[in-house]
Amino acid sequence: MFQDFLKIAEAACRKSGEIQREGLKGALNIVHKGEINLVTDVDHACEKEIVSLIQGTFPDHDILAEEGSGIRKDSEYKWIIDPLDGTTNYAHGYPLFCTSIALEYQGEIVVGAVYEPNLDEMYLAEKGAGAACNGRAIKVSTVSKISQSMLCTGFAYNLRETTNNNFNHFQNFLLKSQAVRRDGVAAVDLCYVAMGRYDGFWELNLFPWDVAAGLIILSEAGGKVSTFTGQKFDIYQKDILATNGLVHQEMMKVLAAGL
Ligand code: IPD
Ligand code: CA
Ligand code: CA
Repeated sequence: MFQDFLKIAEAACRKSGEIQREGLKGALNIVHKGEINLVTDVDHACEKEIVSLIQGTFPDHDILAEEGSGIRKDSEYKWIIDPLDGTTNYAHGYPLFCTSIALEYQGEIVVGAVYEPNLDEMYLAEKGAGAACNGRAIKVSTVSKISQSMLCTGFAYNLRETTNNNFNHFQNFLLKSQAVRRDGVAAVDLCYVAMGRYDGFWELNLFPWDVAAGLIILSEAGGKVSTFTGQKFDIYQKDILATNGLVHQEMMKVLAAGL
């Protein structure tokens, strides 16, 4: 039902990935949005390309894009775009970053595409039709205990300004799991849970463009997404717990102990 939308999301992600690859070959123009919150000319170039492709194809749709080229038409369709997730990695030449594009229809995410150009991995999902990476169906892991899990988290850019900075949860999970990674790319983190590389992921203070595509990719791969306290998650909420489903309750308990 949403296949045509998914095709455009995929095409836009691929184009953005090309710009990212090319951009790494030259010098980057880096601007500080905050003390540790960077944006590069490549973030803007990717967003421009994605928005022009989507707008050219669906001129009546709304667009919410991280770097500000949003469009409001009060449509039932809203594209949610992170043109470059993992900008800090990108700015340092650390090869893990992606483009994340989702489509919300009548308030529900129905299409998600995440493209990670370094491993050339394209994650796609459409509501009710499953999730795939490079055309192969993906599923979450079968690990059922935190003690056997590999987890992932991230830290928001305001970590110097608040004590609600995730340090407590990070320490608690480090002591209970096999490992906790911090990749710096929330959209990829969610896809890695979807394909079983991680068993669970949590983070505070995320934005809709960080999680929208990953949410449907993970849900369609059999995963579970909620708030820290187990409430239904929607992309406008800040705190996310995303797991293979099997470690969800146990992770909720650890998060509750840290609150
Ligand atoms: C950031 C990344 C990072 C997460 C930050 C996000 P950006 O997005 O997803 O993993 O920890 O909270 O803001 O700025 O690279 O698009
Ligand atoms: Ca992001
Ligand atoms: Ca971004």
